[in-house]
Amino acid sequence: MEVETLIGSSKLLKYWPSFLMGLVLFFSIKYLMKNHKRKSHQKYTLDNEEDIEVEETDDLQPALEEKPHVSFVAGLNLNPNGAERFYKLVQGRRSIRSFSSHPKPDLSIIEDCIRAAGTAPSGAHTEPWTFCVVEDPEVKKTIREIVEQEELMNYSQRMHPQWVTDLRPLQTNHIKEYLTLAPYLILIFKQTYGLTSDGRRKRHYYNEISTSIAGGILLCALQAAGLASLVTTPLNCGPALRTLLQRPVNEKLLILLAVGYPSEDCKVPDLQRKQLSDIMVKY
Ligand SMILES: Cc1cc2nc3c(=O)[nH]c(=O)nc-3n(C[C@H](O)[C@H](O)[C@H](O)COP(=O)(O)O)c2cc1C
Repeated sequence: MEVETLIGSSKLLKYWPSFLMGLVLFFSIKYLMKNHKRKSHQKYTLDNEEDIEVEETDDLQPALEEKPHVSFVAGLNLNPNGAERFYKLVQGRRSIRSFSSHPKPDLSIIEDCIRAAGTAPSGAHTEPWTFCVVEDPEVKKTIREIVEQEELMNYSQRMHPQWVTDLRPLQTNHIKEYLTLAPYLILIFKQTYGLTSDGRRKRHYYNEISTSIAGGILLCALQAAGLASLVTTPLNCGPALRTLLQRPVNEKLLILLAVGYPSEDCKVPDLQRKQLSDIMVKY
């Protein structure tokens, strides 16, 4: 009897629906606020990037080791004419589509050029790139087959007629002889995310921009080495080429670069480049 009275008079039991509602409301608001905070972080950090699933942990640690900064050693090239000389060098670069298979440049030259590319700046120093160097004739042949099959569809049905029309002055088509003639193909993959030593995904900020900058440095290095190149972005071939080269799923093909010496009768489109006044605005 006494227990019943006690239970009957307990405020908790009397008002349990209100307590329950209060608790549900409290945890819902807490969850929503946490989610909102995470989403706004993602929006900030992944601006311009495709979204990737990265496991969030409460124990946030930087991907790079935290250690004291070191003194900066200025570059070796203090030549005041350096910029002019560099301009003269790179202005001679042209995309060529007719390669000579002989002589074959030493692999060590390609390695030095890729070393140079690897000095590129990258978002939070993630270095989100992989350069696959292909010289095996059989692999090059398979790459050519994959690309030509896709390019046939691109030219004949997939792409807008304006695209095909805009390409006409370059005299390109779906036949890609340079893919088997060029002594080297360099397939540049962007790593959309990295992996920590314990197998967790690591964000690769601005991986496409970073890898593109590395690609630009590679082009300059190849030019400095006296080699010619062709940047290509074969549409829809990325997954098949990634599989062929057994690259992991976090890597996506950005550029397929053909590298070598031009053939003797190599011709290039008659193009002009914009003047400085067209590309530079002074304030
Ligand atoms: C992002 C990018 C994609 C390109 N894709 C192709 C391509 O798929 N096939 C091709 O023959 N050329 C391709 N090119 C080469 C351009 O057509 C070439 O750079 C342009 O016509 C200017 O000529 P130049 O490189 O001789 O200065 C590409 C260039 C860039 C930068």
